[in-house]
Amino acid sequence: MPELAVAVVARDSEQRSILQLLVEGTRVARVAASFGSLPLAPADPIVRRLQESAPDVVVLDIPLSDPSSALRAIEVLHQELPRTALFAVGSLTQPQTIVTAMRTGAREFLERPLTTNLLLEAFVRLTTTQKNAQRTNVRGTVFAVVNAKGGSGATTIAVNLALALQTAQGQTALVDLAPLGHAALHLNLRPQFTAYDAIRNLHRLDSSLMEGFTTRHSGGLQLLAGASSPSEVQPSPAEFARLFDLLAAYFQFVIVDLSSRMDAVSRLVCDLSQTVLVVAGTDVASLWSAARIQQFLSENNGRDRLRLVLNRFRKIPGFQENEVETASGLRLFWKVPNHYPAVSGAIDRGVPLMQQNRSELTRAFTGLAEKLTETETTAKRPAWSLFKIG
Ligand SMILES: Nc1ncnc2c1ncn2[C@@H]1O[C@H](COP(=O)(O)OP(=O)(O)OP(=O)(O)O)[C@@H](O)[C@H]1O
Ligand SMILES: [Mg+2]
Repeated sequence: MPELAVAVVARDSEQRSILQLLVEGTRVARVAASFGSLPLAPADPIVRRLQESAPDVVVLDIPLSDPSSALRAIEVLHQELPRTALFAVGSLTQPQTIVTAMRTGAREFLERPLTTNLLLEAFVRLTTTQKNAQRTNVRGTVFAVVNAKGGSGATTIAVNLALALQTAQGQTALVDLAPLGHAALHLNLRPQFTAYDAIRNLHRLDSSLMEGFTTRHSGGLQLLAGASSPSEVQPSPAEFARLFDLLAAYFQFVIVDLSSRMDAVSRLVCDLSQTVLVVAGTDVASLWSAARIQQFLSENNGRDRLRLVLNRFRKIPGFQENEVETASGLRLFWKVPNHYPAVSGAIDRGVPLMQQNRSELTRAFTGLAEKLTETETTAKRPAWSLFKIG
């Protein structure tokens, strides 16, 4: 492994000294520069000094007392030093901070108190993924799929959307966080491990271990399987945030099947998603539920990320898109046609629609994947504006 040049940025002098010692202690990196103030704007002199020292990695401390300045610094550095990997060091007790750090461009979020071993593992992860994928600072995009009402079709849509993205773009993961995971059945896979096993091993998770926890479908899609029992012990939102931090480092697209899950984890996943698809039918109960779910998921912020997908759609005389949007409080994004025999046959046989020649349904999922990724490239906003810390 080539020696990495590291810059340490921490306002607190004690923290700065600790980080320097830890970096040197890994024996695979050396401290090339060290700064006691944060770059808060592109014109800040520190930015130029950092550009001159061109480190492979910036290790940046996020203090509990004032995370917002450090997060702003990550955003600035991500823009101004696009070839440098940013490692944030902070507390795992603040999931919003982790999410914001990863959205603004941090490559790793490392828990304080940091140890030489944890830092060494992060350096190894960095060099491995750089070798494998050449995607140092490119973060994967997360899309979540949630039901307005049980059985609306979230899993069918998540599974086929993930397959469509894998075919069109590659490097896609499907993460099953439904209360009881059905995605493996839809894909006819028999996973050895679940997302919960991955979280239990977060401290040592790197790219090869991540591979080990996922189950590969024939076309290359990787499934991080769901709970096979409703009594699965639930990790904290911070642990889920760390899992997604890692997933976004390895995959270009991460699709999350939330189905009818409605808790703090659903909110967290929605917060870190580019787009959240709320799946509903055209009936009054579904649309009423969609409006309630919309309120629940956008309690903090992020309402503009939620979109309505009408499943089992049938053309009916007098159907008005604007009435559906008013009733649900959501913008209509996509419609998936109604084909009960084809859809239920696909689930029962474990051969997803995207693997069959079901032209109308296949077109619907391919089109949904295209529309989502087209929105992503044309409308990607600076992530900073999506969160308020505190
Ligand atoms: N477009 C469709 N046309 C006809 N039937 C559909 C369609 N999509 C889903 N279904 C049917 O709806 C049922 C539920 O589908 P699915 O398991 O995908 O829903 P879900 O919302 O994930 O359910 P859960 O609430 O259990 O998580 C299945 O039996 C499936 O066949
Ligand atoms: Mg489901």
